[in-house]
Amino acid sequence: MDKNITDKIELLQEKYALMGQDINSYLEGLLLSNYLTYWDYTQVETLLTLQNPKTDYPDELIFIMYHQITELYFKLSMHEFDQIGNNGKIMSESGQDIGWNEKLDADFFVERVTRINRYFEALTKSFEIMINGMAKEQFLKYRMALLPASGFQSAQYRMIEICSTDFINLVDKDVRDQYKGKNSSIEEMFQFIYWNKGATELESGKKTLTLKQFEQKYSKKFIALANEYKTKNLWQKYLSLPEADRKNPKVTNVLKELDVNVNVNWPLVHYKSAVRYLQQKEGDVPATGGTNWQKYLPPRFQKRIFYPEIWTAQEKEEWGKGWVETNVFRTN
Ligand code: HEM
Repeated sequence: MDKNITDKIELLQEKYALMGQDINSYLEGLLLSNYLTYWDYTQVETLLTLQNPKTDYPDELIFIMYHQITELYFKLSMHEFDQIGNNGKIMSESGQDIGWNEKLDADFFVERVTRINRYFEALTKSFEIMINGMAKEQFLKYRMALLPASGFQSAQYRMIEICSTDFINLVDKDVRDQYKGKNSSIEEMFQFIYWNKGATELESGKKTLTLKQFEQKYSKKFIALANEYKTKNLWQKYLSLPEADRKNPKVTNVLKELDVNVNVNWPLVHYKSAVRYLQQKEGDVPATGGTNWQKYLPPRFQKRIFYPEIWTAQEKEEWGKGWVETNVFRTN
């Protein structure tokens, strides 16, 4: 028998012995198992069963699928936050060591944050599918069957924010200074999370049903994640790099790009779609969440900034007003 093959069999024997398993049974299983197919590996058939519009308006399929596409990109982003947060380690559920060990240095940091930036750039570019890719008349009809669901309830969008920055930067900007530098708990700060303002009823000032349902389902998870990422969010990981790396423009620029991608560019294209579909001359169409979206959504009002330490006072002052795209350049 080819030596390559016998060598591999020996390695296999070691692998199984290590776990107290008998290689013979596994070889028998291998003899019986089927060849892998594309459709089984990608689970494409299951994937294509997950599009279930609530009405018969044809364009609702575009709406539901583009949300799903976005969530998949969000998941890809979370995959990178997970690896950066865990210093490049993959926590394999099988407990097997595949011998793949990255370490968190400047190159790894830049490469992985660039991946997230690429995903957000793809999302920003493709948002045109929402802005111009559906008939307004249809949208205004089928959206009524979707109440009170809203993209506001995307948990992964919030998880990306939590993994990107120190939690204080997600506290409503009007009360943020009261909590800064006070070592406040995540639980305390969570009560003033910025997004509460985006889901408060215009008339009564009460929490919308959209927010109540969102809180019931996810608040505990968000608080647990924020506690877990206190020491391993992207900003903390950046701070853990040697000083020379922290000063390297390649490193600071990927963080700046992320800040702009998540907090300005994507919110701006998203806002454009709300304007296209919901803005009317005689007063705006209320959003599905019943909020004042025009005052809430534009980045210049929210002023959500992940890395205030690396922007100048003027840049922060002019946040979301158009300078950012022309002022941040890719260096890698
Ligand atoms: C025609 C397309 C869209 C329109 C008209 C639209 C409209 C809105 C409006 C009005 C809000 C404010 C909250 C509310 O009152 O419901 C909102 C929030 C939000 N939407 Fe959309 N949306 C669209 C597509 C999407 C897509 C494709 C996603 C992808 C997941 C998305 C994710 C979000 C998120 C994450 C928020 C919360 C933003 C924040 O808190 O700053 N939206 N959207």
